[in-house]
Amino acid sequence: MLPYAPAAFSQGRMDFSWEALTAAERAQAYADWKAGRGLIGGDPLRRPGSHLLPGWGIDLPFFRTLALADTRNGATLQAFLDSARPLEVEIGFGRGDFLLDRARRHPERLLVGYETKTKATRLMLDRIERLSAAETLPLAPLWVSDDDARFSLPRVVAAGRVAIFHVLFPDPWWKNEHKVRRLFSPPFVDLLATCLQAGGLLHFKSDVQAYGELVRYLVEQHPAFSPHNPAAAEQIGTAAPTHREQWCQRHGKPVWTYSFTRR
Ligand SMILES: C[S@@+](CC[C@H](N)C(=O)[O-])C[C@H]1O[C@@H](n2cnc3c(N)ncnc32)[C@H](O)[C@@H]1O
Repeated sequence: MLPYAPAAFSQGRMDFSWEALTAAERAQAYADWKAGRGLIGGDPLRRPGSHLLPGWGIDLPFFRTLALADTRNGATLQAFLDSARPLEVEIGFGRGDFLLDRARRHPERLLVGYETKTKATRLMLDRIERLSAAETLPLAPLWVSDDDARFSLPRVVAAGRVAIFHVLFPDPWWKNEHKVRRLFSPPFVDLLATCLQAGGLLHFKSDVQAYGELVRYLVEQHPAFSPHNPAAAEQIGTAAPTHREQWCQRHGKPVWTYSFTRR
């Protein structure tokens, strides 16, 4: 088993509300996206040093989008991306429990995880190393980045390359002025549709019911996705709960799960 330490999550706010987007709000979402507004950590194109691989990440399964030309890491990742391995991407892996479990259960796949908290990403690299050393069987290649997935995916992953996206317990960003940081928006759903292969899956979970409803509204409005179908989640199989999900289980909090298939 993966080492487990109880999380210090608080319940947090639950009073999330949303309304169908007006044409003006939709246009604003595309304008924000185009301008790089709301990217966690700011726009890497304007951030000094974001094209350099940090020393601590060299020769580890770590990448920064603008440093992919650095062949020390970039070439290895590129070879995996060019391979026929089915690709699963998790956005916001947090402590990484779900993804590490996935790597152990599905060694034939390729896993990519995004987590904008650099400290959490570095801890994940340690956990990957320790788990690889402890396992007798090889793990699936598991690459992580502390880039905002919205910035990275269009630059790293070819159209139709992803078999499954996992977006598990993303931050709802409650306040109106923080909405621009929220992962799910019309251009983000466009991006998922572009990256997913036909028949590919978007696997989403939240403990904030109304955020789940907003995601369902946004995804089902998109012509590339079929409506939520719980049976589609069967292809995930047995999987470890994320850190947040473990907290929900311990505190008897409900979790809402959605699965949308790319047409
Ligand atoms: C509420 S936490 C959930 C973590 C984990 N999935 C779990 O269930 O325990 C959401 C995580 O997503 C990360 N995150 C938020 N926006 C992101 C983005 N645009 N790209 C990558 N990671 C992101 C945050 O740093 C945070 O760690």
